[in-house]
Amino acid sequence: MPSHKIDLSDSFEKIPVKIFPTPKDGSRFVAEQIATLIKEKQKKGEKCILGLATGSTPISLYEELVRMHKEDGLSFKNVISFNLDEYYPLEKEALQSYWSFMHRHLFNHIDIDPSNIHMPNGELPKDDIKKHCQEYDQLIDSVGGIDLQVLGIGNNGHIGFNEPGSSIFSKTRLTSLDNTTRIANAYEFQNISQVPRMAITMGIGTILKAKKILLMAWGMKAPIVAKSVEGNVTEQVPASILQQHNDCLFVVDDVAAGELTRIKSPWLTGECEWTPKMIKRAVVQMALKTNKPVLSLTIHDYNENGLADFIVEKGEAYEINLQVFYMLRDSITGWPGGKPGAVIPAHPERSEPHPKRCIIFSPHPDDDIISMGGTFMRLHDQGHDVHIAYQTSGNIAVTDEFVTRFMDFAVGFEEQFGIDNHKSREVLADAGRFLSNKKKNQVDPAEIRSIKGLIRRCEAKATCRYVGLTDDKCHFMNLPFYETGMVEKKPMSEEDIQITMKLLREIKPQQVFCAGDLADPHGTHKVCLDIVYESMKRLKAAGESWVKDCWVWLYKGAWQEWDIADIEMAIPMSPDQVMKKRFGIFIHQSQKDMVPFQGSDSREFWQRAEDRNAHTANLYAVLGLTRYAAMEAFVRWHY
Ligand code: F6R
Repeated sequence: MPSHKIDLSDSFEKIPVKIFPTPKDGSRFVAEQIATLIKEKQKKGEKCILGLATGSTPISLYEELVRMHKEDGLSFKNVISFNLDEYYPLEKEALQSYWSFMHRHLFNHIDIDPSNIHMPNGELPKDDIKKHCQEYDQLIDSVGGIDLQVLGIGNNGHIGFNEPGSSIFSKTRLTSLDNTTRIANAYEFQNISQVPRMAITMGIGTILKAKKILLMAWGMKAPIVAKSVEGNVTEQVPASILQQHNDCLFVVDDVAAGELTRIKSPWLTGECEWTPKMIKRAVVQMALKTNKPVLSLTIHDYNENGLADFIVEKGEAYEINLQVFYMLRDSITGWPGGKPGAVIPAHPERSEPHPKRCIIFSPHPDDDIISMGGTFMRLHDQGHDVHIAYQTSGNIAVTDEFVTRFMDFAVGFEEQFGIDNHKSREVLADAGRFLSNKKKNQVDPAEIRSIKGLIRRCEAKATCRYVGLTDDKCHFMNLPFYETGMVEKKPMSEEDIQITMKLLREIKPQQVFCAGDLADPHGTHKVCLDIVYESMKRLKAAGESWVKDCWVWLYKGAWQEWDIADIEMAIPMSPDQVMKKRFGIFIHQSQKDMVPFQGSDSREFWQRAEDRNAHTANLYAVLGLTRYAAMEAFVRWHY
């Protein structure tokens, strides 16, 4: 197989990185590498020793391998596999065990000989683990070592469960999980307290012995990818140690590549095409780095920050400063639906038509208010016909306690008004029985899921009423891809697209907002976005006349904000609007305090929203624009 060293594109990157448009493309590449190796070994009558990983990253890789087995006849008969890690203690059969994961996603669907599957055993008594780990490493050595090791990467840089501080010489062993890892993986369990505190993992030394390593990273991993690839080798960032391996390749998607110097600041790595967007990015980065307003940057700053060539090409620093200042200024508007009757050529939105029909797509029933509550309120207050489309039921993120609380209310309500509550009592009793015997991480029956969905629906409706919308403007799409009852969702289906196209056709919006958030820990936002993209593309291809006049704006979900240089529309908020938004978020009571799937951020949603909106406003102020209390930000999607 060819070495990937030739892909080393510049001196900033100390590990070769191959960038693909999407995780699917990257996964296909890795699957092809694996398939080629398996077939080469088959031809020689040899075994192929694979090191495998779990987690959200390799799911699409395993999908592709299963496809290759079923459709292209790829056989795994000569494969011997070793998995990286397993939680401890945890029974094999538990839904969250990596043993279950691997069987669910790969082993059950291919022809690998079960006796060739090796995974650390999370069920052993503690006293037996040391021996088990030694035997695991010996077994790897005895079959000739790992030919190809697949890795993911944790946000803290861990590989396998080798957390920061793990030794470069570490072998397979029992280790304790970093709290950030437990929080990040809480989505696999019901809540953080159920995530095991320990795991058995191959050591860094074990991993480095693999002949070839492919590390995959998608989406939100951009900062740690850049740190591992461009930073110093340090045990504090375990993946950086891979710089010392002679055949390691990082396979990343566009988003995860976003913090690499060649992507983020390409002018530092050589040739760069100076589009207005790139100029804005370079100047904004320089202003933030030097902590100077854009209009105060001097030729000296340009020279000091790797932009000397640019100045030679473009001339006056002050002219460039002005150009960028105007771009930033023109992105700010209090009129997200356009300012009626005004002719402002550089305004982010069109003045006409006014009012506009708008759809805000909200992946979960609270993303609308959390991520763009201020804009939502402005759109309504400025007379637009605002519709909210809640894409998923969000039923998985409601605690069991809420179910009994609300069922109890339903029974009491009927009793109070003399309504026959025979049925609701029965449902309450059933729910109570199920919940009191519910096993750790057991999937809720449809009835309970529907009650959880109803709770979220009522909260969403209450928020819309709070903003001033009538109930007929709230659309609950209940997209089927979400309805698994588990954190893992189905992929986008034709039905999801048809439901979305139907709604779009009904409303014929002139403005659409959707979550352009690729960093959603469970991937729901990403699927929701893909569904809207696909629906809009199909409607355009079908020649629906309204589509050409419909602008699509992307907001980020609760986890992140757009890069300041990429923002095309920034909606300021007054302190009163910030408070009004906060109370709107409070209406989502089932999402207050510790929700079941919190992600790695322990702040409540309203705090995250406020911090983020204040931060955006602050960045604009630092760059020399007016200081607002808070700002929501959008990027336009051209399709
Ligand atoms: C999994 C493993 C971990 C993951 C890492 C990223 O076997 O060893 O290192 O690769 O935690 O997890 P995801 O892919 O869920 O982001």
